[in-house]
Amino acid sequence: MTQPKRFLSGIQPSGKLHLGNYFGAIAQHLALQHEGEAFYFIANYHALTTINDAAQLRALTREVAAAYLALGLDPQRAVLFRQSDVPELHELAWLLATVTGMGLLERAHAYKDKVARGIAPKVGLFYYPVLMAADILAYRSNVVPVGADQVQHVEMTRDMAGYFNHTYGEVFVLPEVRVSEVAGIVPGTDGQKMSKSYGNVIELFADDAALKKSVMGIVTDSAPVEAPKDPERNAIFQLYALVATPEEKAAMADAFRAGGYGYGEAKKALLAKLKTFFGPARERFAALLARPDDIEDVLRDGARRARAEALATIEAARAACGLA
Ligand code: TRP
Repeated sequence: MTQPKRFLSGIQPSGKLHLGNYFGAIAQHLALQHEGEAFYFIANYHALTTINDAAQLRALTREVAAAYLALGLDPQRAVLFRQSDVPELHELAWLLATVTGMGLLERAHAYKDKVARGIAPKVGLFYYPVLMAADILAYRSNVVPVGADQVQHVEMTRDMAGYFNHTYGEVFVLPEVRVSEVAGIVPGTDGQKMSKSYGNVIELFADDAALKKSVMGIVTDSAPVEAPKDPERNAIFQLYALVATPEEKAAMADAFRAGGYGYGEAKKALLAKLKTFFGPARERFAALLARPDDIEDVLRDGARRARAEALATIEAARAACGLA
């Protein structure tokens, strides 16, 4: 019998979840709960690097938990928890920091991008990858399913684990990264990659009016209705392709190529599809948020299971470096 693989990933509660989050990461997380042991947590410590409002952080944390449950996470199978329910994580992060060179962190793209966008270069932002490495190593994860933007952080985690193991003996399991297949190609309403920081998102759980507004607001060129259009070059079709069946997708592509099919009509088709695709999850999401105690029960049980794993690793790391 081979050991089941352990999958681990974190999702930051830093804004309303959108289609980019779903197709870039969440869908893969949900699929993997059937392939091994899945550990998923809400990265609220990491979110403190961008959110400084307690009520907002609490609300977003609860919403991420509700979203995972509504979209199909099975809490009997997967371990869903809140990062801050395992505060011992910080001890591991410190141990990793003591073997990690400044140069490794200075090369982090995410850090450099955030600073370039005007986010203040706080110590926590710089240290972010060390805390993420502690997340991954604490739970002895084999595979880390993430979006393309997080690949470098997982590579850095392997480096940090390697430094520690080299210095003190084999304590940590080196994780593999797994990039979601559609990561990076979910276009936003302006055609760029869908991202909260570009303000071009279509939220997963927006109400009907807001959903309609974002879909109808997708930017298109000014080709008239009669003109034949290239489906591969428009965000409406690319988004539709994510939620439609292969036949429906082919039919829309043909309609665009033939001409006589306008963007407005395509947007209506997309809106209808999004409502069917996410409709049941949207209902479950609303029902769950009305019962915050149930969400709390799931998170508390997840924390209990997760913490036991982390404490065993941290104990081994303490012993290896002479703290215990
Ligand atoms: N940095 C990740 C993101 O922004 C979130 C995260 C925190 C994470 N810790 C993690 C992802 C550990 C995978 C594993 O998406």
